[in-house]
Amino acid sequence: MQYNTIESLETLRAASLAEFEAIESDADAENFRIKYLGKKGILSELKKTLGAMAPDQRAAFGAAVNSLSKDVENRFKEAHWQNKDGQTQNSGFDPTLPGFPFSSGSLHPLMKIRDEIRDIFVSMGFSISYGPEVESDYYNFQALNMPPFHPARDMQDTFYIDEKTVLRTHTSPVQIRVMEKVKPPIRSIMPGRVYRNEEISSRSYCLFHQIEGLYVDENVSFSDLKGTLLAFSRRFFDEKTHIKIRPSYFPFTEPSVEVDVECFLCKGKGCSICKQSGWLEILGAGMVHPNVFKYCGIDPEKYTGFAFGMGIERIALLKYGIDDIRLFYENDVRFLKQF
Ligand code: DAH
Repeated sequence: MQYNTIESLETLRAASLAEFEAIESDADAENFRIKYLGKKGILSELKKTLGAMAPDQRAAFGAAVNSLSKDVENRFKEAHWQNKDGQTQNSGFDPTLPGFPFSSGSLHPLMKIRDEIRDIFVSMGFSISYGPEVESDYYNFQALNMPPFHPARDMQDTFYIDEKTVLRTHTSPVQIRVMEKVKPPIRSIMPGRVYRNEEISSRSYCLFHQIEGLYVDENVSFSDLKGTLLAFSRRFFDEKTHIKIRPSYFPFTEPSVEVDVECFLCKGKGCSICKQSGWLEILGAGMVHPNVFKYCGIDPEKYTGFAFGMGIERIALLKYGIDDIRLFYENDVRFLKQF
């Protein structure tokens, strides 16, 4: 049959479709391909006739030939049929070719450190609690024993949303929320993001992460705090590490301390990471102030407790030997891929 009109192309389309439907094996498929799509196949031959056509006919007929040829080709490429062995075949896809390499994602280094710290405390019996990042002045300051005009408020450069609302400057307000809800005994850690209006540099950023810890029960003593933090440090850093406890001041604890761990790089000998001191400061802690208990309706005569708070960025910088905190927030895959 001569295919030289647009109508005749429809006959060809129907014929090809019928033959396509009848394909049952690899051999059938190959015959179909040669007959219709091969170099000397019907469609290729048809395209060769276009040159000899009168220009006014050529445009429409040519377009119809091209569209038919594309349809047949696409249908053939996407087709699946069962070959003799019952395997599904697809003419356009060779499953034996090597695949494209996919790079797998990984946890952000900060989340890795957070999870490691969290898992250690969870294994000691601490639960996990969360609080809001947009926090009221009451929880962020007042109930933590920082009434209005308390000088310690200036220690934290606060982002104010309005007069009574802030972006929390630390995770300590979650302590209050937990103590309002749960009666002692309480053992909880509280991870989360915090915000401070500080000048951005390699050492500080406008947002960072902390993990807060709280332990309240009858007869909790300072040595419980010491033992817990030593056990944590030995699991997290090195099983032989030492810690050093220095007096400090926080309004919500009394007494208050800061805790250093022996530098895990030089093991206390002195190096550039620990500024030759042999020690690295990792957290603030103390015994919960009686005023804080009173705000939460917990009797300070009956209960005592300890609290601590550590910065995740600081620990990650130390642990991975990173010298610029901003790297954590730039989402540069070349950086993130390394963890
Ligand atoms: N909230 C303090 C800060 O951001 C850290 C801290 C110190 C938390 C002592 C505590 C604590 O729970 O007892 O600097």
